[in-house]
Amino acid sequence: MKSGRLVVIVGPMYSGKTSELLSYVEIYDLGKKKFKAFKPLIDNRYEDTYIVSHNKTKVNAIPISKPEEILKNIDGDEKAIFIDEIQFINENLKDVVITLRKNGVDVYCSGLDLTFKNNVFPTTSVLMSYADEVIKKKAVCHECGEYTGTISYKIVEDEKGEIDVGGFEKYIAVCRDCYTKLNKKKEESKKMNRLF
Ligand code: ADP
Ligand code: TMP
Ligand code: MG
Ligand code: ZN
Repeated sequence: MKSGRLVVIVGPMYSGKTSELLSYVEIYDLGKKKFKAFKPLIDNRYEDTYIVSHNKTKVNAIPISKPEEILKNIDGDEKAIFIDEIQFINENLKDVVITLRKNGVDVYCSGLDLTFKNNVFPTTSVLMSYADEVIKKKAVCHECGEYTGTISYKIVEDEKGEIDVGGFEKYIAVCRDCYTKLNKKKEESKKMNRLF
């Protein structure tokens, strides 16, 4: 059997990962090819049973909490599988995706490559390594306006850790230089707060 293709779409928030994923959905849809879409249950920002982009285009999706649920929810005759927000799914997703690809299914995944703390999201890293194609998207930097945004920056201070669902109220996309500047400013203001 001919192998499927694994395409992994990565980048910071607002870089168009979900939109790009949806553009591939449209290609299969127009070609009347059977497909299914999945998203992690944790991502409840817009609607539970849809993958939704920031500019509100959407497609029906099955919410999952474990990668194995993908295999349980497919019929076996799908030509493609789409998975958004892969950073929130555990690393066993790799085994599911590789099995699907071996069975001739095209798999399109999208998600964040880096946390707002500049650490990698392990599932995304692993899938990027196994991918036939990696598409790295950019956002417009919220600070300098250049089309060089490669990392997300968290604008609110809390103790929630690196997994924290949200959108414009919490995160911006910035370029490397602006990321460094903003973090420096944050450290300086923390220092001042400790002094007074
Ligand atoms: P992602 O899944 O990567 O967060 P989406 O595909 O959901 O991205 O949304 C991309 C859309 O977000 C763009 O088409 C644009 O309309 C909007 N947008 C908002 N802020 C920005 C930004 N800073 N840079 C680029 N697009 C942005
Ligand atoms: P988006 O890439 O489609 O905009 O969605 C990213 C989601 O990931 C959003 O719910 C915010 C969340 N997130 C984290 O949990 N940790 C992070 O470090 C970042 C940058 C985003
Ligand atoms: Mg998205
Ligand atoms: Zn910038």
